[in-house]
Amino acid sequence: MSNPGNSRRTFAIISHPDAGKTTLTEKLLLQGGAIHLAGEVKARGQARRARSDWMKIEQQRGISVTSSVMTFEKEYDGETITFNLLDTPGHEDFSEDTYRTLTAVDSAVMVIDAAKGIEPQTRKLFEVCRLRSVPIITFINKVDREGRPGFELLDEVAEMLALDVSPQGWPIGMGGQFEGILDFASGEASRPEGPSKEFLGKRDADPAIPEEWTEEIELAQIGYPEFDLEAYRNGDLTPVYFGSALKNFGVTELIDAIAKHAPPPRPQPAGEEQIAPSHDEVTGFIFKVQANMDPNHRDRIAFMRQVSGTFKRGMKLTPSGLGKPIAIHSPILFFAQDREIADTAEAGDIIGIPNHGTLRVGDTLSEKDKVRFTGLPNFAPEILRRVQLKDPTKTKQLRKALDDLSEEGVIQVFYPELGAQHIVGVVGQLQLEVLISRLSAEYKVEAGLEAAPFATARWIKGEGQALADFENFNRANLAKDRDGDLVFMAKSPWDVNYQEEKNPELTFSATKER
Ligand code: G4P
Repeated sequence: MSNPGNSRRTFAIISHPDAGKTTLTEKLLLQGGAIHLAGEVKARGQARRARSDWMKIEQQRGISVTSSVMTFEKEYDGETITFNLLDTPGHEDFSEDTYRTLTAVDSAVMVIDAAKGIEPQTRKLFEVCRLRSVPIITFINKVDREGRPGFELLDEVAEMLALDVSPQGWPIGMGGQFEGILDFASGEASRPEGPSKEFLGKRDADPAIPEEWTEEIELAQIGYPEFDLEAYRNGDLTPVYFGSALKNFGVTELIDAIAKHAPPPRPQPAGEEQIAPSHDEVTGFIFKVQANMDPNHRDRIAFMRQVSGTFKRGMKLTPSGLGKPIAIHSPILFFAQDREIADTAEAGDIIGIPNHGTLRVGDTLSEKDKVRFTGLPNFAPEILRRVQLKDPTKTKQLRKALDDLSEEGVIQVFYPELGAQHIVGVVGQLQLEVLISRLSAEYKVEAGLEAAPFATARWIKGEGQALADFENFNRANLAKDRDGDLVFMAKSPWDVNYQEEKNPELTFSATKER
């Protein structure tokens, strides 16, 4: 293949906690041979323990919660497809990390619990995908359990997400009577337990699908749009697979769909330009920085999504925030449980770059220092708190810490136009806990948080008299963010609507480019 980037599938799994993301990830890695069946159960037990321990330690030390990268491969007709799965944290809270991870992928798999349907948080993630035109494959999981009827789930996906759904298979006897899954493409069904024989053929084949299910299957096949690659890639249609991650059902169909349909690395916006994977130099951007991965050394790993070129170990790249090149001697590639030093990497790959704070979220890295990627947004915070300093002599340290941590993307910080107390904003509660413990552990600043009379924030753009009037009227609700940009602190979503209607010349934005 002329462009090696074309064999990459860089994707994320989005779901509500407990929908089965971890289980599905494990099954995908198994299929890709990245982990082995022997000892799977044990590994799983350990992985779970490791995961919860890790999270506890993370919280105690106040370091940011992991969202790692896992790479695995699978052969298709002699061609190796490399899957880069970007994991997003599986806890109740959705932090900005999760959102930013979505800036580094080309597609996503949305996992839905068959019993529960789409939950609000999943919908929010979907909207971020939508915003960035990240196409989505839907996996309705846990069909081996008592769940809602297939049609109801499909209609819910279609309605809630306002897009076409195209089922690619169908559960036979979902829930208590679950028999197996029929794959529309092959016309074959198989069952999850017992000897894994294919027990159902095409309708008229022998053995045949029990008659009680044929009508439903026919309806599912003709009642919804056919799969349309272009519509999927435009984000207007989602192919839907039913399965059971736990019982390893429907997982092969899912992974094959990712290989076959999910887009290869796509061009990334850089101002007016689009940088294609075939661009003649190595470029990439940092979408995540993880500090203190090794508490013995104050190291940070910056995760770079490579956009173009062929990276070679030792190469010199210039980070946009620094202005002078750095040599990248020990880039890290991530496998299921291991890390390796990467000798080469292609567009679509994620490499970890150890550094001591030179690399920041949103930085572009490039050989020629001419490209600047755009489109890594800040999201309007949904929780706002005032920071209360326990020792008033530490204001300087606090400001430095808040600036640093907002740079890293742990929190956003707002400096009100009136009053001295800094306000921090987060998308998820856990970020606040991380903030307080990192302030204490890394900056020796003891602080608490108290309620702020605001519910959300909007970045304001406008000019002239309209802006001046707005500022005069709303002084008590205005703040500057870390970059000095004007922010309206709103008491409620209603407040935002009201001001938007009252000030049609101004724009109120829920996201801001980093
Ligand atoms: P998450 O990462 O999205 O939070 O979900 P996770 O994979 O941890 O799965 C949540 C629970 O759902 C787990 O049960 C898991 O075993 C179960 N599960 C996942 N996929 C399926 C499926 O296809 N069918 C059924 N029946 N269950 C499934 P748990 O009791 O919380 O954990 P465990 O005791 O099984 O480890």
